[in-house]
Amino acid sequence: MTINDVSMQRRLRLIERGAGPTIRREGKDLLNFASNDYLGLATDPRVVEAAAQAGARFGTGATASSLVVGYTTLHEALAERIASLVGAEAAIITPTGFAANMAAVSALVMREDLIFADALNHASLVDGCQMSGARTRYYRHRDTDRLATLLSRADRARRRFIVSDSVFSMDGTIAPVQRMIELADRHGATVVIDEAHATGVLGANGGGVCEGLMTGEPSRLVHVGTLSKALGSQGGFIAAVRETIDRVVSGARPFLYSTALAPPAAGAALASLTIVQQEPQRRKRLHEHVTHLRTGLMDQGWTVIGDAGAPLMAVLLGDPARAVDAALRLERSGICVPAIRPPTVKPGACRLRVSPMATHTTEQIAQALAAFAEIADLQPPGGMQ
Ligand SMILES: Cc1ncc(COP(=O)(O)O)c(C=O)c1O
Repeated sequence: MTINDVSMQRRLRLIERGAGPTIRREGKDLLNFASNDYLGLATDPRVVEAAAQAGARFGTGATASSLVVGYTTLHEALAERIASLVGAEAAIITPTGFAANMAAVSALVMREDLIFADALNHASLVDGCQMSGARTRYYRHRDTDRLATLLSRADRARRRFIVSDSVFSMDGTIAPVQRMIELADRHGATVVIDEAHATGVLGANGGGVCEGLMTGEPSRLVHVGTLSKALGSQGGFIAAVRETIDRVVSGARPFLYSTALAPPAAGAALASLTIVQQEPQRRKRLHEHVTHLRTGLMDQGWTVIGDAGAPLMAVLLGDPARAVDAALRLERSGICVPAIRPPTVKPGACRLRVSPMATHTTEQIAQALAAFAEIADLQPPGGMQ
């Protein structure tokens, strides 16, 4: 399979209007099941207004790196809110979630340390591990028995780190974080968890999968996340004990050598956090839509993966041509879902990634299900494992 295969080619598709549950793309109105704006906050008037006010006060851009003149009182207020939401001592705001993962792993892990990483980790964690220069052992997706074995064989390494997404972005699966923290406690390891698809969506207060989980030594857990998904803004964060945050501030290249997050994005994220805390019904509605979609698709005979609580699911199709065909036919019926192909997933594991939003109506979910029913002839023969 090469980049010359038509089913492997990509091109930019231009959005002409909207970022909410409906968008206009290349002249066609579509129901949007492709967004990470799970709670519908990117277009919420209160969030848009907060961004405008932040821009009026601090400017449209941060104008410099955080350590020069880029880090404002707005960034600091946001960091404090994030730290309190996830239950960490301190936090720092980064220009993107990608930079947050790169910065957290590369600043904490030294060449002589050992990393244990889930095989399906996001590219930014993979790159962070590589940047650290430490040896990285990948374990099968969510296989904590294997992780336990690897840890027990590595007791002589200088330090041990377990690095994982909490919600896996292309599968909708959730890492067994509680067990990972227990293992870290037993083996004196540190867990770095990327909550990109969990912040705002999971946890009693929207603090992510790790919210309230850390009862042991707080330095064992580093929360990383993004402001660009359920918070409807842009940027990333790292939350941990103060000493860890200080290390990032003085030593993480993706943090040091990049312009700080634009103030309007920081202002927007702050407003979103207030809404996340005050309107838990948004999370409830999102989870209802996810359940409705998942059970509807499974009833139609699709192979659907994704755990309860995750804001997204994957419909497995197998080869790339089938996935691309399915996405195109759904688009003709007015439904926008992306076909996910290599290198993002393994060849033969191509899929549609389906993500509803809290702001979809029940009728719109039903419309998506009806469109899937029309393409049932594309279901892989014999299903998929
Ligand atoms: C699991 C995961 N981590 C990190 C990121 C990067 O976040 P950002 O888009 O804010 O750079 C993404 C986004 O694509 C993601 O899916």
